[in-house]
Formats: sequence, C-alpha cells, structure tokens
Amino acid sequence: MDDMKLRPAPTPESALLSSIQTTSINRRQFLRYGFNAAGGVLAATLGALGFASILMPPGEGGGGDSSVLFWAKGREEEAWYGAKHLQPMLKSDFVTESANSNIGMAGAQGVWNGLPVVVNYVPHAQNSDSPIADNSPRFQEMAGYDIGKNYVGHATEYLLGNPDVFDPSGNLVMIFSRCTHLCCIPGWQLVSNSFTADNWTPGGADDGGSKLFCICHSSRFDPTAIEVNRNINRSNGATFDYLGIRRAGGPAPVGLPIIPIIMNGDSIGASSEYTGWLTYCD
Ligand code: FES
Repeated sequence: MDDMKLRPAPTPESALLSSIQTTSINRRQFLRYGFNAAGGVLAATLGALGFASILMPPGEGGGGDSSVLFWAKGREEEAWYGAKHLQPMLKSDFVTESANSNIGMAGAQGVWNGLPVVVNYVPHAQNSDSPIADNSPRFQEMAGYDIGKNYVGHATEYLLGNPDVFDPSGNLVMIFSRCTHLCCIPGWQLVSNSFTADNWTPGGADDGGSKLFCICHSSRFDPTAIEVNRNINRSNGATFDYLGIRRAGGPAPVGLPIIPIIMNGDSIGASSEYTGWLTYCD
C-alpha cells in the first residue's frame, strides 16, 4: 500500500509540520481518518445533513433522535470505545476512560443524526477552583475573533444570555467535527503527534496537546477554549455568529461550533436548536 505525505498547510505555519511525528500515512489510513478534501466539493451540492448521511448512513446514527452514538468504524481495535461502535454515548464511559489520561481528559468520535461529532470530557469541575496551570485542564471562556481578526464577542457574555448552549459544570463539550478549512473531519487522537498528545496548556494556545487535529492540512482546535466566533454560510453568503471552540493553528480560519448537550440520565444527547451553525460546508 502506497504511503501518502500529509499535505502541508498553505501558510507560514507549515514549518510546524516539522514537529509532527506522523508525517505520512497510507491511503487506507487517510481515507479512514480524514476522508478527503473532495468531500468539501461534494458537500457543495448537498446539505450538511445530506452529506453527513453519506458518510454515516441512516440507521447508523441517523435515527432522527437526540441521542449521540459512538463511532469507531475502522478503529474497533485501537480506540478505547472500539467495542462500543454505534452504542449510545454514556458520560460514565468518559469518566472511566479519563482515569487512563495523565490529565484526566477523554474524548471520542461520535455520530448524531448522521452528523460527525467529537465529545470531550474535561475535568473542569475538579480543576476550576485551583490556579490555572499546565496539565490542569478546565474550560476557558475567551474572547473570539472573525476571519479578519475583528472582535466578535466573549464567551462569558454570550453564555449569560444563552446558558443552555454550554454548561462547563457538566465536564462535557460536544463539537461539530467538520473542519472550517475544507470540510474534512477532525477526530480525536486519530493520529499521534505533539498536537494530539496527552497534555494541556492554558490559554487556547497551540503549544500543548489535546487538540482536535485535522489530518488533511493539520489544522488544530482546542476543545477547552470556548469562544464566540463568526463564519459564513456558503449557500447564501450570510455570516453567522456561534459559540465554538478555538482554532489553535493551521489553515482553518475559525473554530468549530459547539452542539448543545442534553443529558438523559447518563446518556449524552444533543439539541437540534442550533443547526444553522453547522451549514458552512453546504
Ligand atoms: S480541511 Fe484543511 S485543515 Fe482541515
């Protein structure tokens, strides 16, 4: 099987690629982990829900309800949730898995109504009263900026008016997993490099691990850095603001949207109230 070199990001940050330990993957791995940028072209002819349903067909997480399922297709042997493919996500699964992390974090790829998502467990409640320090992860409410570096808003202010969108005390965040660059699917620890390592630094910077890493052109997103952001609906050109996680590095222009979590006992579900935030790949 031929090896494929990861395409460098078309920015000066491509120099960072020298720090990536995994710089080539085979074709099967590329298709499995990153899908490909052509997906973005295909998505242009379909709605976000339609495109995602091609990736994750109805009946496999496209069931039309609020529950979120684990998605480990092709990674049944490697992922900690491999044996739970298409089973409902339980918060207790993440709590148990977090004991295997040096910093108490856990994450998994999932599917919700045919859409690819990543869910992260962050020990916010345990750490938020202690001084902020390396490897003491907690959610950070931060100022957000648009593509032109203009201030959009602050997460704390946003959450005062919209507390149902994200509750840090629940120790969970759900993220729509379509890259804001060219719509590949960033996963959680699908490849091993400095950006996906089991460590954490504060401030939403790009110098620690625990990032969602997009394998297509190496964009990085910090699931603990919560900010207001602005993106463009490619169907109608309208801009929209949303609560998301921070783009830490790479060619992606902005961060990824948060999908509000609805807990049903131990089961992780999602709200469909903010699907307009997920339309940038249309
Ligand atoms: S699609 Fe290019 S970095 Fe994600």
